[in-house]
Amino acid sequence: MKCAIVSGASSGLGAAFVKQISRQQPAPDEIWVIARRRERLETLAGQVSCPLRILDLDLTVPADLQRLRQNLASLKPDVQILVNAAGYGRIGNCRDLTQADQARMIDLNCRALVEVTQLVIPYMSRPARILQIASVAAYQPLPGLAVYAASKSFVQSYSRALRWELFPRRIHVTAVCPYWIKDTEFIPVAQEGGRPEQVRHFPLAGRSHWVVRRALFDSRLNLPVCTPDLQSLLLRVIDKFVPHEISIAGWELLRRL
Ligand SMILES: NC(=O)c1ccc[n+]([C@@H]2O[C@H](COP(=O)([O-])OP(=O)(O)OC[C@H]3O[C@@H](n4cnc5c(N)ncnc54)[C@H](OP(=O)(O)O)[C@@H]3O)[C@@H](O)[C@H]2O)c1
Repeated sequence: MKCAIVSGASSGLGAAFVKQISRQQPAPDEIWVIARRRERLETLAGQVSCPLRILDLDLTVPADLQRLRQNLASLKPDVQILVNAAGYGRIGNCRDLTQADQARMIDLNCRALVEVTQLVIPYMSRPARILQIASVAAYQPLPGLAVYAASKSFVQSYSRALRWELFPRRIHVTAVCPYWIKDTEFIPVAQEGGRPEQVRHFPLAGRSHWVVRRALFDSRLNLPVCTPDLQSLLLRVIDKFVPHEISIAGWELLRRL
């Protein structure tokens, strides 16, 4: 059974990946969709033509990762695409965020992403693709989003190294680094339970449909990093040439406007 696996499929980028992968020719036999909200995944199943296998898992819970392991072991799928899109951020200076929230960001954005990847790789045959959803936040330290930005630097660094390790097996790994996206739940979730006034502006935010389209295209080209929009490309170039102390000062200015 040829399949795709998408985490974070109950909303935003993950749901958009499921919709676009289901329209690919040839489409996978199944798409495995992972998130905590089962009802959202069931709604998504009614919106796509490809069969979805619903895995309502909390990826920060070891027993739920074990359920994924068991599903893989019993069904032995041939995974052609893995998209790790589950992730979240919280806006707020470190002193204002709870310890639990900061730990959970690292748990989901870093540890769970690595564990899902490790679990799935043995079920990938060549050629196959992994898309790890990082962020432009990977490119520079961001006061007010410190842990989130650091977690995305981890994702980018891990993905780029993994790409070389998996190259001989023809499993292509792409780190996707989008700029702000307005039509997902990321920004409301980042504001809720945090200190929204500490980052008030999300100028020129993009749309998930375009980000996903570009990410799938770039992964087909086997690019190591996908900067899916002009804003993210510009920030990637700035990271190459502008010292961090200057770019952080620019960010501090923006978030105080
Ligand atoms: N939107 C942006 O501005 C932006 C920019 C750059 C990068 N990103 C990155 O893009 C990725 C997708 O974000 P999005 O914009 O699509 O946000 P989103 O709409 O909030 O989607 C996040 C997804 O992660 C799932 N999730 C959260 N906690 C989970 C857990 N413990 N276990 C399993 N699944 C969990 C959520 O589903 P449930 O709540 O149902 O579990 C949801 O499906 C994230 O990694 C984010 O960091 C977003």
